[in-house]
Amino acid sequence: MPFRRFFDRGGKETARSEQITENPEMVEEAAPVDEAVVEETEDESAEVIEHDEADWTTRARAVLPTGASTGSKRSEALYGAADANGPTHFARAVGCRLTDVDGNEYLDCTMALGAVALGYAEPNVIRAVVDAIAAGNVSALSSYLEVDVAERLCGVIPCADRVQFLKTGAEAMAAAVRLARSYTARDVVIGCGYFGWLDWCSDEVLGVPAGVKDVFRRVPFDDVAALERAVTDAGDQLAAIVIEPVVERLPSTEWVARARELATSAGAVLVFDEIKTGFRLRTGGYQAYADVVPDLAAFGKAMANGFPLSAVVGDRDVMDAARRTWISSTLASEASALAAAAAVLSWHDQVDVCDSLWHIGAEMRRAVSAAIEASGVAGITVDGVDPMWMLRFDRPERERRFLELAATNGVLFKRGAYNYAALAHDEDALRDLERGASGALVELRDEEAGG
Ligand SMILES: Cc1ncc(COP(=O)(O)O)c(C=O)c1O
Repeated sequence: MPFRRFFDRGGKETARSEQITENPEMVEEAAPVDEAVVEETEDESAEVIEHDEADWTTRARAVLPTGASTGSKRSEALYGAADANGPTHFARAVGCRLTDVDGNEYLDCTMALGAVALGYAEPNVIRAVVDAIAAGNVSALSSYLEVDVAERLCGVIPCADRVQFLKTGAEAMAAAVRLARSYTARDVVIGCGYFGWLDWCSDEVLGVPAGVKDVFRRVPFDDVAALERAVTDAGDQLAAIVIEPVVERLPSTEWVARARELATSAGAVLVFDEIKTGFRLRTGGYQAYADVVPDLAAFGKAMANGFPLSAVVGDRDVMDAARRTWISSTLASEASALAAAAAVLSWHDQVDVCDSLWHIGAEMRRAVSAAIEASGVAGITVDGVDPMWMLRFDRPERERRFLELAATNGVLFKRGAYNYAALAHDEDALRDLERGASGALVELRDEEAGG
């Protein structure tokens, strides 16, 4: 099993799976980790961060307007309440475990909102990043890695003839929409899913011009009739149909096939947002899984295993609209994240990472389901697809309390959204997951019985 003993609990690389260690190239890549990196990751003293007076949560609230620059890492988002009793800041993360600023260790099921699918501080990735930084992260010229990684993406993503790198998922999706509008010389975009925080799709958010609603029209997930109506309404103004292909479950093949047909017949661009599904369902994303090829797609998150990189990729004619509009970012081609992506691509070249993620995710679900069943607590279900699964609660108060209790039992789950499998979730992690979930559920059951 690729996940067996990927990292030990202290974060040092241990015996890897036979599948991986048998591969000479990966062994060679894995072996000589830079000494400085090893010293840094082995420095246990870094685990407790000295601080006085107010705790980090309080200090964060005083200086960061929402308490956390990543919305999903606010206390409210993590646990369901600003004053929740759970960790908010980490000092160290290795494999699938993190250590908070007070030195407590947790098994992490969230994997940084899906940004990491190998494991935190994965040695090959870290070594590639350190080498890239040491060689000068940026200069007057583009890094050669931009070309190298773009070529490799074209080799693994079905729709990709061309690539444009950016830094965030939101940027890549905004670029996809800019390209679609430039290519079609039309404005209306039909969308289903979450595409990030930028204006073009933030139809329900304060601070966004009302006009956004005229040109961005939401449709429900997996609803063929609603999609057909929206396409008819858009008429000859339809620039793009933009779909997040997995929203808590896989869509029907009918919906996705209809989106493909409707976009083609309307002369519009079909865009898949593969920010979560890329390098997870399959290396090439949902399009590789379902064998439906969009015109454009956006990738990010697991593509660079936690380093900031996204890409819009797609058909050469649509992508070449970039020559007629403007898409650019100063650090889009900085070398560190590209080096991380190159290391991730090497993993995917050598072993079937995504197959392992499906398997490991299924095991995680089984462990949590077993804990739920054994506890006898009703009203909690395990949903989603195996590489990205979620817990559903019948009551928000119950969810909040469970998440707090899970944290005190050493496990961090994602509130209201996906938990993600990573290669680093090894057999020890699965055992600790079941144990932590059981502990939390038994305490929850007893509290509810007592209250
Ligand atoms: C499907 C999807 N698209 C876009 C984004 C936005 O990505 P980012 O937060 O990197 O801007 C996300 C983030 O969760 C996402 O899940």
